[in-house]
Amino acid sequence: MVRFLLENLPNHHIVGFDRKSYCSNTSNVEFVEGQYAGSFTFVFGDLCNDADMHHLFSLFGPSDNTLLDYVFHFAAETHVDQSFLDSLSFTMNNVVGTHKLLEFCKTKAPGLKRFIHVSTDEVYGSTSDNLPTGCVESCKLEPTNPYAATKAAAELLCFSYWKSFNFPVLITRSSNVYGPRQFPDKVIPKWILLLQQGFKLYESSIRFSFFSPFFLCLCMVMGVVNAIIFTSLMFYLPFFVSF
Ligand SMILES: NC(=O)c1ccc[n+]([C@@H]2O[C@H](COP(=O)([O-])OP(=O)(O)OC[C@H]3O[C@@H](n4cnc5c(N)ncnc54)[C@H](O)[C@@H]3O)[C@@H](O)[C@H]2O)c1
Repeated sequence: MVRFLLENLPNHHIVGFDRKSYCSNTSNVEFVEGQYAGSFTFVFGDLCNDADMHHLFSLFGPSDNTLLDYVFHFAAETHVDQSFLDSLSFTMNNVVGTHKLLEFCKTKAPGLKRFIHVSTDEVYGSTSDNLPTGCVESCKLEPTNPYAATKAAAELLCFSYWKSFNFPVLITRSSNVYGPRQFPDKVIPKWILLLQQGFKLYESSIRFSFFSPFFLCLCMVMGVVNAIIFTSLMFYLPFFVSF
C-alpha cells in the first residue's frame, strides 16, 4: 500500500506507523525510505501507547501545511492460530488499538477526509451454502475465532464513531490476501517456502497444486490495494466494502 501511494500520489507525504513486531521486516521500510526520501516518513510506535500516538500526531498540523487527510488502518495482530494461544493481545492491539487511533484522529485530525478500516471477511464466520449471493454487508457478524472477533469488535467501534460523530469511516472486508514480501506465517508464502525446500503439500489426501480452486479464494495484494484506493477515493460514507 505504501509503495502504491508513493508511486501514484507524488504530491502527498506518506507516513507509515508500525511497532515492528515479529512479522515486520525493517529492510522493506528502509528500502522505501531510501527510494522516496522526502515523500515518506516511517514512525516507530505502538497504537496502544499514548506517548507514541502523541508523537505521531505531533507531525501533523495546519501551521506547516501537513494536515492528515487519509488514514489507512491496517495495523493488527493477524495470525489466527496465535489468537487461540494469546487472545488478549489481539484484543489489546486490534480493539483498543483501533479505538485509540479513532480517538486521536477525532480529536487531533478534524479535517480528516476518510478513515479506512481494513477488516476481514472472517467477521462473517463460516459462510452458508444457502446464501445465493454469498455474504453481503448486511449479513450477521458471526466470527468463529478470537482474531475475527477482535476485528468485528474494532469494526463496531468504527461504526459507532460514524454514527455518533459523523466520522468519515469506510470499512473493507477482503478475503485472504497474498503478495510480495509477506511474512511466511500466512498460507501462500509458507507453502511456497515449503515447496522450495522440497516438501510436497497434501491436505485430506488431495494434493494441492497452484491450479487448485482453493487458490481462487485468495486475492493478490495489488488487487486489494486497488480496491481499497478506488473505494476510498470514489465514494462518500458510510458503507462497507466486501471483496
Ligand atoms: N493478510 C490477509 O490475508 C488479510 C485478509 C483480510 C484482511 N486483512 C487485514 O489487513 C491488515 C494487514 O494484514 P497483514 O496480513 O499485512 O498483517 P501482518 O500481521 O502481516 O502485519 C500487521 C502489522 O501491524 C503491526 N501492528 C500490530 N499491532 C500494532 C500496534 N498495536 N501498533 C502498531 N503496529 C501494530 C505489526 O507490527 C505488523 O507490521 C490487518 O488489519 C488484517 O486484519 C488481512
